Amino acid sequence: MNRRWFAGAIALSAAAGWTAGAPGAIDAAQQQTATPAAPVTQQLRTFTPEEIAALSQGMPEGPARELTVRVCAVCHEPQRVASVRLTREGWEGVVVKMVSLGARATDEELAKIIDYLAENYKGEAPKPINLNTATPVELESVAGLLRKEAALWIDYRSKKGPCKSLDDLKKVAGVPFKKIDERRDRLVCF
Ligand code: HEC
Repeated sequence: MNRRWFAGAIALSAAAGWTAGAPGAIDAAQQQTATPAAPVTQQLRTFTPEEIAALSQGMPEGPARELTVRVCAVCHEPQRVASVRLTREGWEGVVVKMVSLGARATDEELAKIIDYLAENYKGEAPKPINLNTATPVELESVAGLLRKEAALWIDYRSKKGPCKSLDDLKKVAGVPFKKIDERRDRLVCF
């Protein structure tokens, strides 16, 4: 794995501050880069049934809803997952990436989670684009920004820090929020 990218991802998620999640999860993921073979399962947060119920609010019913919340909410709100609409391959890609970042579940559980996501959060996009790490080319091709607008966003995020939700983009002068809004289904702030 590209270590620079990995460190950036962790730093970003820490900056994004998912406070209800487990601070330990990020540490665990970081330790994992240092010693890839180290088991991290026991270091990850677990939830009570009440917490799972609260975290599942607004997510479509399905046999794997609670499972998805239990596995994915360790590091970030499951609702943020629900902001994108991807193809099945897109969801498979996300889940594989999350496992590489430290998500822990059995293969069978992962298959159920992919089914749940692919069924309930289905769309045309092959993968989500993270506005905090997107390249100028991605911002132009996926977010539909003009070169000048992409440059304004990159300048903004390098000075003021990452976006936490797409609505943060409303504050960026020179970037038409309408374009972001129209492509919500494939854009994330992580
Ligand atoms: C060990 C912590 C951890 C767990 C568990 C985890 N994620 Fe993530 N997730 C991250 C981090 C860190 C990022 C930011 C990655 C980046 O910016 O490249 C992220 C980003 C995402 C994104 C944004 C798109 C992307 O690819 O960056 C989606 C969607 C997502 N996670 C879905 C999930 C789903 C679904 C699960 C459950 C199967 C899950 N996550 C479990 C840490 C985790």
